[in-house]
Amino acid sequence: MSLTKKICEIFDAPSVLYNDEVSDKYASDWTDGGKYRPEVVLRPKTAEDVSSMLKLCNVAGQQIVVQGGLTGLSGGASPKPGEWSLSLERMNQIIEIDQDALTITVQAGTPLSVVQRAAEDAGLYLPLDLGARGSCQIGGNIATNAGGNQVIKYGMARALVSGMVAVLADGTILANRNKLLKNNAGYDLKQLFIGSEGTLGIITEVVLRLFPKPITKQSAMCALESMTDVIHLLNAARTRLPSISAFEVMWPNYFDACISAIDDARSPFTEKYSYYVILESEGHCAETDFEHFCELLADLMEQGIVANAVLAQSIADAENFWKIRDGIGELTALLKNAAHFDIGIPIRSVEACVDDIQSTLLRKFPSVIAYYFGHLGDGNFHIVAGTENEEQKYGVYNAVYEITGKYEGSITAEHGVGSDKTQWLHHSRDEAEIALMRTLKATLDPKGILNPGRVF
Ligand code: FAD
Ligand code: LAC
Ligand code: ZN
Repeated sequence: MSLTKKICEIFDAPSVLYNDEVSDKYASDWTDGGKYRPEVVLRPKTAEDVSSMLKLCNVAGQQIVVQGGLTGLSGGASPKPGEWSLSLERMNQIIEIDQDALTITVQAGTPLSVVQRAAEDAGLYLPLDLGARGSCQIGGNIATNAGGNQVIKYGMARALVSGMVAVLADGTILANRNKLLKNNAGYDLKQLFIGSEGTLGIITEVVLRLFPKPITKQSAMCALESMTDVIHLLNAARTRLPSISAFEVMWPNYFDACISAIDDARSPFTEKYSYYVILESEGHCAETDFEHFCELLADLMEQGIVANAVLAQSIADAENFWKIRDGIGELTALLKNAAHFDIGIPIRSVEACVDDIQSTLLRKFPSVIAYYFGHLGDGNFHIVAGTENEEQKYGVYNAVYEITGKYEGSITAEHGVGSDKTQWLHHSRDEAEIALMRTLKATLDPKGILNPGRVF
């Protein structure tokens, strides 16, 4: 009996989509690359379903691409020819909020914004946040070890994972719903699945750390004239505002392009500047948090480090700052063959690295316009560049990753390697490291059925 027939016999109709039932939405992630519609989409409801499905696929050698919210920017969830997709979209239940342990337990296919809201409804706070919050799933966030807007205070997704249920390629279920802050009983196996982009197992459930909800939030858009001043602001903010929660930088061409691309976005400034920074802090003291924030900005303006600053007086003001920052979606829609980068560079080399990238692109690909922005407080910035065709896009990737390697940076600080960056992994990881990654992969998935060709 064929594998398709066997699976259709065991599972109900909504659990298996076949042929014409498979819509185009399963054909690629947000990068829009590949566009290969899989013949079969598996849509399990439980870890036990995932286990039975993988067991059958493993025996038959059927390759699987794991699909979360499909907002990935590395092509990792885009199917390749011959692969079936396994989508977590029906595994979207909030299982438990534990007010004493400060944890929330959820199925991996739950959208991030739903988990955020559930925590908030319970008077608690999940600090993981990114522009794709409405569509990305918590399992996808953990599989990619997502970063986002508040890493400077709370760390990446990894720092928020307390326990996990994951299913291996042969169907073995590893269930560790740990809620303890301290637990050194053996290897911390959940770490294998965080940031390994679905190559070692499928995450089906997670226990996440929650925090008391901050009662104050301060936001400002700052304008500065040099990268030295930006770094000075960062250092001063880290020293004087222990509650700093976001430090996002936009280069002027990104700032201006987003304002033109977004219908109702407006600059809070009348003048133009060389850099724009969203600075935010959050805290628990209504009397002093705002005062400390204002004092910092006033001092730096007096010293001429911050050229101008606008404080958010309302939630709407802060939302307007973020609307510009999160304009990547609107901007990308205007670009052809967009190349996305999420490189990590030691903070003191960022200016030299960006200059190097800009002059190289201008020399090699004069028609390419690249926009720069990102989480500079974490030493991570993005570039999005429209290109004329696939060949030019490849050339742009190659040039930028070579420069990244030269500055001892990371070719991917947050989005992951996926399918798109595998050939440049050696710029950030040495041979021995990549060999050990291959050994782990071969041990946990000897037939190579899970997300083959991703990461390396
Ligand atoms: P998908 O795109 O579906 O999958 C991503 C990878 O994870 C694939 O390799 C897939 O196979 C694997 N995977 C998915 N679910 C599972 C699972 N349950 N078990 C095992 N493997 C799985 N990323 C950031 O880090 N920071 C940002 O600030 C940020 N901002 C973004 C803004 C926009 C507008 C967009 C479109 C994307 C942004 N991203 C950002 C990228 C993306 O949202 C993240 O990588 C996110 O974590 C992907 O989640 P997803 O559910 O969409 O995963
Ligand atoms: C962001 C995505 C691109 O930070 O990572 O907007
Ligand atoms: Zn980002």
